[in-house]
Amino acid sequence: MLSNTKHKWWQSTVFYEIYIASFQDGNGDGVGDFKGLTSRLDYLQDLGVNGLWITPFYPSPKVDNGYDVSDYFNVDPDFGSLADFDHFIEQAHERGIKVIIDIVLNHVSTEHAWFREALVNPESKYRDYFFFQDKSNGWESFFGGSAWQKEPVGIQVYYHKFSPEQADLNWQNRAVRDDMLTVLKFWLDRGVDGFRFDVINFLSCNGIGEENLSDADGRQIHSHDIDQPGIYDCLSDICAYVRDYSERAGKDCFLVGEVGHEELAKLAPYQSDDLLDVVFNFNLGSITHFDIGNVHAQLVAMEDQLSGLPTIFFNSHDMARSISRLCHDNVEHAAALAALTLTAKGVSFLYFGEEIGMPNFIPVSVSEIQDIQAKNHYQLAITDGKTRHQAYDIALEECRDKSRLYMQWNSDEFSGFSTATPWIGKKAPENLPNVDEQIGDSDSLLQWYKNLIVLRRDNMALNFGNYDALSLEQGLLSFSRSWQNQIVHTLINFSDVQQPINHNSSYEVMASKGFNLCEPNYLLPYGTLIIREVRDVC
Ligand code: NOJ
Repeated sequence: MLSNTKHKWWQSTVFYEIYIASFQDGNGDGVGDFKGLTSRLDYLQDLGVNGLWITPFYPSPKVDNGYDVSDYFNVDPDFGSLADFDHFIEQAHERGIKVIIDIVLNHVSTEHAWFREALVNPESKYRDYFFFQDKSNGWESFFGGSAWQKEPVGIQVYYHKFSPEQADLNWQNRAVRDDMLTVLKFWLDRGVDGFRFDVINFLSCNGIGEENLSDADGRQIHSHDIDQPGIYDCLSDICAYVRDYSERAGKDCFLVGEVGHEELAKLAPYQSDDLLDVVFNFNLGSITHFDIGNVHAQLVAMEDQLSGLPTIFFNSHDMARSISRLCHDNVEHAAALAALTLTAKGVSFLYFGEEIGMPNFIPVSVSEIQDIQAKNHYQLAITDGKTRHQAYDIALEECRDKSRLYMQWNSDEFSGFSTATPWIGKKAPENLPNVDEQIGDSDSLLQWYKNLIVLRRDNMALNFGNYDALSLEQGLLSFSRSWQNQIVHTLINFSDVQQPINHNSSYEVMASKGFNLCEPNYLLPYGTLIIREVRDVC
């Protein structure tokens, strides 16, 4: 259980993920960048978010949109310069907004100098930064197909958990660890407030070992290539380095890890005083359809099984957008989900565009697909004998472009999509929600998010309170969180019929939707009521 004694800044922070290529273009080339992002800081401040997570912006061939880093010490020219980055950090801090950055420690781009040297000079020390072998084993890549690729010249194969252009680092080699700590120092020196560690439980700390197991359907289970023995030691070195640095610098850095699991029991051990502050709870965040019984069960399980705070999110650059994936594009349902995201116990992470209800983007043909994972699955399906149509459907299932469409600031501008130039100059698909039409509209989803974010930030019970109650009845989720003499009760009707509630009229209504004070005993479908009770402490 979370101790009440040591409060950290990130417990009262609402984070907002920025997929940098798609947020705001600042120089007219159709690609989001730091200049553009800086120009939108006022919007973000007005929205109320006080923490930003920036996806990788380092020089990269962008085979996997920046998760294939070729130089860890610079900014990719598409996104600006180091000076632009510094200015952005300064401006964010001036507005009271903290910034965490995404760091990819598991693999580097095959364009990275270490890998290039390892290829051209097999005797160099960099050969041992990677896994070169005479023969592959049966491990599969997370993007589909074998995890082994033959080197362009020479006879060996190298290991890549993701695409062949993302070569895995050998974390058994101390030099890799030392070099990566230097990377962390470089960005800490530039003022970042923490890191989001990419696929951090995937680090190969025990080399290439036994074959992976398979499930009953013959699909490979990643039983030996992730969560390897030694991973906790490795991660604890990384976290200790950041914490020592922070202590010396008199600041407090936040560490959140992408731990690739949907099983809570596997996520939980990565969160501790020596390891990560929080992990992304994919057990809840990446559910594929909305079942309030399951959501409630996950909230209860997180309460029971985690040693620290959970994270609460339903969106990211790796999953279909929640309004389309979970809410059947129903804005009322999305508003209810927002209430859950911002009042349940845990660190809230929003993803750009969810505050206006941006839906999934669906590439209409294979040539429009940008995502490497989807492209790979398309090719594998074709090789497997599927028709083009079937292969396109398979690719679409896997396609992460769904959530990577450019931020819709207004109805007529649509200058870019991810890092892909074919989209430059195209008009936005019809009828997308946009920021301009919602600003100033008190009934808009945007305004609802703003109200909730302020509540979440300014209310001690919502920042630090444990659950006094957490229950589900007929689709009505209710929970109470208390802090000192205040209790905040949240009631959310996740059903499509009105639900009876017991509203005590002496409690202050902090925010509501689908609730009418003249009929205080009902909550409309997808309605929310957040009320505060002040208790006598004597
Ligand atoms: C997780 C990232 O979120 C995803 O976008 C990326 O493809 C993989 N890690 C590989 O770095």
